[in-house]
Amino acid sequence: MKRILFLIGILPFALIQCESDPRSAAERRLDERVDSVLALMTLEEKIGQMTLFTSDMDQTGAFLRPEYIDDIRAGKVGAIFNAYGAAYTRRLQEMAVTETRLGIPLLFGYDVIHGHRTIFPMPLAEASSWDMGWIRKAAQVAAAEATAEGLHWTFAPMVDVARDPRWGRIIEGSGEDPFLGSRIAAERVIGFQGDDLAALNTMAATVKHFVAYGAAQAGRDYHSVDMSERRLRETYLPPFKAAIDAGAVSIMTAFNDYNGVPASASRFLMTDILREEWGFTGFIVTDYTAIMELQPHGVASDPAHASELALNAGVDMSMQDGYFNLTLADLVKQGRVTEQDIDTAVRRILRVKFQLGLFDDPYRYSDEEREKAEVMKPENIQAAREMARRSIVLLKNENQSLPLSDQTRRIAVIGPLSEGRRELIGSWSAAGDWTKSVTLLEGIRNRVPNAVVTHADGCDIVCGDDAGFAEAVRTARLADVVVLALGEAYWMSGEAASRSDIGLPGRQRELAEAVLKTGKPVVVVLMNGRPLTIDWLDAAAPAILETWFLGTTTGDAIADVLFGDYNPSGKLPVTFPRNVGQIPIYHSALPTGRPFKAEDKYTSKYLDVPNEPLYVFGHGLSYTTFVYSDLTLSAPSMTPDGRIEVTVTVTNTGSRAGEEVVQLYLRDRIGSLSRPLRELKGFEKISLEPGESRQVTFTITTGDLSFFKEDLSFGWEPGEFEVHVGGNSRDTLMGLFEVVGSRQ
Ligand code: NOJ
Repeated sequence: MKRILFLIGILPFALIQCESDPRSAAERRLDERVDSVLALMTLEEKIGQMTLFTSDMDQTGAFLRPEYIDDIRAGKVGAIFNAYGAAYTRRLQEMAVTETRLGIPLLFGYDVIHGHRTIFPMPLAEASSWDMGWIRKAAQVAAAEATAEGLHWTFAPMVDVARDPRWGRIIEGSGEDPFLGSRIAAERVIGFQGDDLAALNTMAATVKHFVAYGAAQAGRDYHSVDMSERRLRETYLPPFKAAIDAGAVSIMTAFNDYNGVPASASRFLMTDILREEWGFTGFIVTDYTAIMELQPHGVASDPAHASELALNAGVDMSMQDGYFNLTLADLVKQGRVTEQDIDTAVRRILRVKFQLGLFDDPYRYSDEEREKAEVMKPENIQAAREMARRSIVLLKNENQSLPLSDQTRRIAVIGPLSEGRRELIGSWSAAGDWTKSVTLLEGIRNRVPNAVVTHADGCDIVCGDDAGFAEAVRTARLADVVVLALGEAYWMSGEAASRSDIGLPGRQRELAEAVLKTGKPVVVVLMNGRPLTIDWLDAAAPAILETWFLGTTTGDAIADVLFGDYNPSGKLPVTFPRNVGQIPIYHSALPTGRPFKAEDKYTSKYLDVPNEPLYVFGHGLSYTTFVYSDLTLSAPSMTPDGRIEVTVTVTNTGSRAGEEVVQLYLRDRIGSLSRPLRELKGFEKISLEPGESRQVTFTITTGDLSFFKEDLSFGWEPGEFEVHVGGNSRDTLMGLFEVVGSRQ
């Protein structure tokens, strides 16, 4: 290390400031430092920087495979993932810094997806809050804990738009909508990275998975993606662009192919779009063994061919397959890849290491004192609880069944999720310790210590038999109120966790029906990683809370909502279908030439299920009621460079304070292409006291009306537009305006 810093100080550089150089002085200095290191490196060492390997874990704790230790010492590894902990990362870093020729520090990456030690709600749950401030805060807390444990780099945010709830990874993203998804993507990047990557509590973000992974055919993970470029640009790319505009310094390729070309071999995606069109300057890492997978994809004949395709398409770093180490040096000799391209990749990676401050002090993040002080500190747990209660969606609340009175004497907590602890932190729970999470039963007991809280599981989550049903029914009969906790196991969503039947698993429906039949007031608490097909439950249960997987503080956060300490304010970021046959179903569908008419057979519909979903995008109730009125537009028309202000009055007509997500949707009535029936283009979360009214104003410009035309040019068209404002994507007030001017 000393050697390197010394050399950096004395090496002369050819980078002379010229007037046309758009870089700032700091950027130039950074590039100079990067080049000073690059100038010292052998080809093998350069390829090493492009190589990422995993650390492992066994009963004795974290360890590195012996061959990776050899590779680190030989300067053949630039980054390690799945290694965390101040002491452990310091040990590995010492190896790289003191035992390699150049002492280049390692970069430590990890899937810090929804918290590090303090686990926050799953990303889809957080998205249900539509609360940008808290989503940013959640990422900040995650970064503070992760960096205190030696981590520099998170494989988050996952920004894949997902419209197929069979796909288990829908839980990792922000749902079906590119507008909401883009806002959240940017907040998460800012939350992780802050405005200074060198700060000790910020970390490098990775936007993933580039791209269209959420459109895997039939919802089956890793499956193929075939779609028009317009659809790609309109729906799947925007959250990536937003994350990059927010400063994300790395991006991960997807496992899937796009129109036949695997993402990790796609020059179109990585070079044409990411680099040339968007000017992305960070580095591109593949997903796990994705270069190797170019062979089973059927586009590469052997490891060398796979590496050649990946590098030439734009990959900078390989994850886990070691293919770059294995093949790139030979490929350079054979002239199949160039050393310049390798230099470019290495520059991008070193740049981030410099930005993180690793060349100034490679151990700066591996600080045991900070680790002790930061990990799971009370403020972090408190923040997780606040995020968790904001993530809950009240799907149904007939006759104001909720909130429960805290004077209720006998409460029965029934169902396979009532005491489950492991489930609560969901998948991708990083270094989270599930034994520290608060169960629903505990949360209720904490909240009403004087009530008699009884409990019966009825069955386990898979619910293969009814042996426990009788006891569950007996327990329900003896209670004044039943909280019925149903849902999925944590392993039923996340990676490699697609389901073709997205109902409640096993015989949970029968359990619910038996409990409902007792006639006792029943409140259903759902815990699950995706929209479920539960129209029967909606018809049968008076109250349903969607709580997803809420993390460390689950039980307390749900109790906050059950007893009205927090008035639920979540809105669905994804549509709930009635059955699997309706998929794909989402709010921004195009109109057809034969719009639905009940009396006309030859209109677009099913014979056996309505067209409408069970719960629309943006749906979510409150313990109070909000009335929308007086939708006004500042003008009936606008010119291309003009704007229209849309104002609506929202009144809290109930007796509790509450928060409402006011949503704005647009529709282009006649375009050169068919345009969506509704497209989300704005939202604002407001808080209203009982009886209070507030005017909310949105500004529309032609930027909001623009779309990708048939020739893929992006722009607006004159004509008539509908504007819809409301508390969900269906129940809205409508206004009309016109855009005048000639087509762009
Ligand atoms: C595979 C997953 O697809 C990706 O999201 C994750 O970041 C990597 N594995 C590393 O764990």
